[in-house]
Amino acid sequence: MRMMAGSRSACEPARYADAMTTLVIGGAGYIGSHVVRLLLEKGERVVVIDDLSTGFRERTTGAELVELDVTRPDAAEKLAFQMKASGANAVIHFAAHKQVGESVAKPEMYWHDNVAGLAHVLEACATAGVRDVVFSSSAAVYGMPDVDLVTEDLTPQPINPYGATKYVGEWMLADAERAHDLRTVALRYFNVAGAGWPELADTLVMNLVPIVLDALEQGKTPIVFGNDYNTPDGTCIRDYVHVLDLADAHIAALEYLRGEERPHRVFNVGTGTGSSVLEVIEAIGRALGQEITPTIGERRPGDPARLICSTDRIRETLGWSSTKTLDDIVRSAVEARRAAQ
Ligand code: UFG
Repeated sequence: MRMMAGSRSACEPARYADAMTTLVIGGAGYIGSHVVRLLLEKGERVVVIDDLSTGFRERTTGAELVELDVTRPDAAEKLAFQMKASGANAVIHFAAHKQVGESVAKPEMYWHDNVAGLAHVLEACATAGVRDVVFSSSAAVYGMPDVDLVTEDLTPQPINPYGATKYVGEWMLADAERAHDLRTVALRYFNVAGAGWPELADTLVMNLVPIVLDALEQGKTPIVFGNDYNTPDGTCIRDYVHVLDLADAHIAALEYLRGEERPHRVFNVGTGTGSSVLEVIEAIGRALGQEITPTIGERRPGDPARLICSTDRIRETLGWSSTKTLDDIVRSAVEARRAAQ
């Protein structure tokens, strides 16, 4: 059964009271809305909690939307109320600030909001008896690892407040598991891009693919942040994962939590393949059918030369692996932009 999108105040109960229901906190955002769509396609019930500060109501069509800021002091109580009223079996928590540069400029906001938000979610789960929690973590926890492939066993050494709040979030999950009857998974996202549906595309111009597309649209030349790194073409290498593949990893994580065995609580999510900045720009050129000649600029402080995900754990344990290539990612981003024009 699909429900029409609707919204209520945080004090009214959600309409669902039976069957598999997932509370998706931050479900009106870019990644969250892809997960909401996949859950609905599976016939599951979804209640989205979002303050709509960066999310959009239109992205939650088919789910029920409750507007609520999880950082507020009364949020745990309100969340517990929604969990009980909806009969939620699981929570996926996306709602957080996620910009590295902003976190350096406004560390207190990151520490307060990212940590308080998660604390309220975990407290509410304990109160309402919701057992399964999937948490959005980030490859930013690793900092500048000097390895070919980043495995989950590497000791995280975040180098900015954003990454630090995500690492602390993972500790909070572990503590909440010990204190309450919870089961949690943290997914450490690598570089997420693309769109599964044009209307769910990333509208923030904060990462390489949208930045380059935006620059080209404005007739500007994209800038490569340094080409003197110790990599084959001198530009930084990242592991770009399609947002739809990433969304699918959340579904796999939920199924894992619902099962019996659970040897791990932290998983990297990436493809295991690296692409340089120049390779991404070339792929964008292919998708647009034009040659792009970027300007080579200065290095951006804090950029590791190479960050590529080891995918062994998630493949072996959750049975998940990426299905989409860099060209798929870039093409979907280009198509989504065209659709929005
Ligand atoms: N880059 C450019 N020019 C630009 C923008 C980016 O050359 O105009 C380069 C960056 O220097 C970097 C690469 O493109 O080498 C990717 O940069 P992004 O800003 O898109 O992404 P980051 O790798 O810096 O960070 C992203 C997310 C973080 C997350 C991290 C984890 O934004 O939230 O991946 O891998 F923590």
